[in-house]
Amino acid sequence: MIVTLIGLAGSGKTTVGRQLARRLQVAFLDSDHILEQRLGCSIRAFFEAEGEDLFRDKEEQVIDELTQTGEGILSTGGGVVLRSNNRSRLHSRTKVVYLRSSPEELFRRLRHDTQRPLLQVADPLARLREQFAARDPLYRETAHFVIETGRPTVANLVNKILMQLELAVFKSDPKSVGSGIT
Ligand code: S3P
Repeated sequence: MIVTLIGLAGSGKTTVGRQLARRLQVAFLDSDHILEQRLGCSIRAFFEAEGEDLFRDKEEQVIDELTQTGEGILSTGGGVVLRSNNRSRLHSRTKVVYLRSSPEELFRRLRHDTQRPLLQVADPLARLREQFAARDPLYRETAHFVIETGRPTVANLVNKILMQLELAVFKSDPKSVGSGIT
């Protein structure tokens, strides 16, 4: 099984995903990181040189490939839900967890960020509010579970996600509980 983490930039997808993979002893896949390796430059540099549309094409290819791999935790870029192909592939091929945070909380975490191209604007909080309004419905449509992040520790979030996944496995096969996530 692949578990995918989605949510706006700064919602904790990479940090939480890494810990989750460690706890479950499965591979950790970070689509942005894999994209940067393929593009041969940072996402910010790619956006500046080639523009967002081409970035989204490359992202769609990587998501298509990664969602067909066997097992692991997949952390995605915040804009992954903008393409309907990504939404349907993620939902049908993987278990999707939406890490949901308010724009204000994200701003608190990202106010010194220089790497996210879409946040290099005069008023990043306003941009985060716009992104939240546009994307929250798309994240909800794509997700199997929504986790409200608030300000808990990473370990706390990992536990919440594990509980949701166990519950899902239990609902689909009550006899499997105790055998771990498979
Ligand atoms: C983006 C988020 C980034 C990265 C790119 C576009 C977005 O990923 O994919 O800068 O559209 O919100 P993170 O969510 O990991 O910052």
